Amino acid sequence: MAKVYVTCRVFPEELERLRAAGHTVEMRDAPGLILREKLLEKVSEAEALICLLSDRIDAEVIEKAGKLRIIANLAVGYENIDLAAAQAAGIVVTNTPGVLTETTADLTFALLLAAARRIVEADAFARSGAFYGWELLQPHLGLEVHGKALGIVGMGRIGTAVARRGRLGFGMDVLYHDPHRNKPAEAELQAKYVSFEALLEKSDFVSIHTSLTRETRHLFDRQAFLRMKKTAILINVARGPVVDEKALVWALETGQIAGAGIDVYEEEPKVNPGLLKLQEHVVLVPHIGSATSKTRRAMARIAVDNVLAVLAGEAPLNPV
Ligand code: GLV
Repeated sequence: MAKVYVTCRVFPEELERLRAAGHTVEMRDAPGLILREKLLEKVSEAEALICLLSDRIDAEVIEKAGKLRIIANLAVGYENIDLAAAQAAGIVVTNTPGVLTETTADLTFALLLAAARRIVEADAFARSGAFYGWELLQPHLGLEVHGKALGIVGMGRIGTAVARRGRLGFGMDVLYHDPHRNKPAEAELQAKYVSFEALLEKSDFVSIHTSLTRETRHLFDRQAFLRMKKTAILINVARGPVVDEKALVWALETGQIAGAGIDVYEEEPKVNPGLLKLQEHVVLVPHIGSATSKTRRAMARIAVDNVLAVLAGEAPLNPV
């Protein structure tokens, strides 16, 4: 019997599994993010915490969490958690890897296609009643996708899944940069390992799939955009701070690059007002990479499985 606190709305059947195992579950049943004071208060009583990427679980929270045994993050990323502090306090941290790989790769391609072919602008145009017929010089002439060069920054699970779509679905040439060579991807997809600079210079689409670390924070700065093709499109479904958003707005406004498909932001949930003003070849979505009902259910299931295991005195299934 343990107390589980959940900082956000979670599918009821998953919470039922916790209750069926004899645990007491309190779920914050409200939209939006939990307030800091509330988190500090709730964590002091809980033995298990199920939380979001947007919940900052830092040393102060961990210090308050005298009874906590597990933090189950509802995400594959976990940079919101002070791992060292959790480890020092003997608290297990888990994530939800694997289940969101293909879903996030699908969204990457949705953004890539939408930005290149100006789907959102064209949709607004069609709805506005301004469409009077097919013209050779239509207002939404876009950029080609098939056969172009796709540059993947971070060739892990999601990067590889995106590369596969590009190579096998759209006949794209895949370039990649990563601290580690990915030989299986090279063999399967004829992916070419290149320096970061060469990737920027040669790619028509640059897609970010790296985690956020000290090294990758603002990896995409003004210098990076200056190296990119003026016809290139940047896609970011990874982490907002990998891109210096001010530099991105500058690059888009000055035509240094042609467009962007963005799912993640530097200061979520805030979206840079400069980005909001841009429409041509720019598509913005609100961190929905893993947002299909099947995948979000799978993520909740994994988090609950980890909580059940740790509260039963077993090893966690997905420790980070
Ligand atoms: C979402 O961004 C995740 O890390 O799962």
